[in-house]
Amino acid sequence: MRVTIIGAGYVGLTTGACLSELGHDVICVDIDKERIARLKAGVFPFREAGLDEIMIRNMACRRLRFSDHLASAVRGRDIVMVAVGTPKGVRGEADLAFVRQAAQSFAPFLSPRTVVTLKSTVAVGTAREVREIIAEERGALDFWVTSNPEFLREGSAVSDFLTPDRIVIGADDRDAGERLIKLYRPLLDRGVPLVETGTADAELIKYAANAFLALKIGFTNDVADLCEVTEGDINSVAKGIGLDPRIGTAFLKPGPGYGGSCFPKDTEAFAWIGRALNAPQPLIEALIARNDYRKRHIAERVLKEIAGISGAQVAVLGAAFKANTDDVRESAALQIVPALQKANVGVKMFDPWASGNAAPLLPSATWAEDPYDAAQGADLLLILTEWEMFRSLDPARLAEALRRPVVFDCRNLFDPEQMALYGFRYVSLGRAN
Ligand code: UGA
Repeated sequence: MRVTIIGAGYVGLTTGACLSELGHDVICVDIDKERIARLKAGVFPFREAGLDEIMIRNMACRRLRFSDHLASAVRGRDIVMVAVGTPKGVRGEADLAFVRQAAQSFAPFLSPRTVVTLKSTVAVGTAREVREIIAEERGALDFWVTSNPEFLREGSAVSDFLTPDRIVIGADDRDAGERLIKLYRPLLDRGVPLVETGTADAELIKYAANAFLALKIGFTNDVADLCEVTEGDINSVAKGIGLDPRIGTAFLKPGPGYGGSCFPKDTEAFAWIGRALNAPQPLIEALIARNDYRKRHIAERVLKEIAGISGAQVAVLGAAFKANTDDVRESAALQIVPALQKANVGVKMFDPWASGNAAPLLPSATWAEDPYDAAQGADLLLILTEWEMFRSLDPARLAEALRRPVVFDCRNLFDPEQMALYGFRYVSLGRAN
């Protein structure tokens, strides 16, 4: 099928590349001419496992192309997919300005019977609103607007796309739904479950899924606090509850509070939708406050560990919001590091991928060459991201580098007994400390 993706950002590019991998003819369009020029030259704007290979392969056979020329990219296509950003608005809502602008700008070029589909995460009712916007521009109702949310995790977006748990197609018209089913036929033929529904439900599914996953994390963090004061172990508790298939073992790891470009934004937007439509979501409202508290509380706990040391230094390992990404949006480090610095603590950091993105946002931190360099002379080592390379650090070398052998591990990377053998005061989450 001939597919045009509007917005060559994270979701747009990943989706475009994967759709071309499924055999479709894909054009990714962006108003950012420079971005398009770089893409054409094979310079990709972010790191995502497996994406480069797919892009290069499909660009070579011209199944994947890039353009900044909207008219020619939109005319005569079977599907026009909107994958522009929906940043957080002033009241927590998803700001739909880019979606509306995109719809207005491509509407005049839309061929009859094209299916427009919204990939961007949008408020319930947006597909219908976009239909009105396009109708106003075109003056004819010979097109459809559908909703097709994505469930891609950064770091595993390619495999999430090519081997998904489910495909959600929201269409208020059967023919439009059929078109999207045809788009995903190669995956559906492999047995991927399909959820066919109306556009409003599809829009809600995206938010409800992220809100529920975030709730699991928030709940786990609270249970972890309880484990710490009862000499318990969150790993055992998580396993013990997670083996009940109604609960499931995934997303039961404690941490410094969820971050990233999705959960914080989407939980806020979900809560906003509830307020706006007078169907309040108090669980999610509480979760948002709790997650924010979690990050502040970790900073307070770290400060307690180094209380009384003048000119204290903390080594921070991890700036990315999770491992295997260079994305630092809403990462724990962005909240915790400034809180430490406000208390006059010096911070030296290391992250294998994300230092370039984090450095401008944390201008008072210094950056180390490697984890041991960060630890050199520090009074405490704080681990914020679960990078595999941190798990394999040599405790003996760390003990030697640190001024005081204190490790505060927000990702439970080490065995407490082993750390005690090396002479560490080892603080981890949801375990007796
Ligand atoms: C999330 C969802 O997992 C995807 O399904 C969804 O498509 C995506 O948002 C989106 O809306 O686009 P992502 O933000 O890439 O994906 O990251 P996750 O792997 O879900 O992690 C989010 C945060 O939760 C991270 O800060 C992570 O460290 C934290 N987390 C995750 C925990 O603290 N504990 C866990 O057990 C799992």
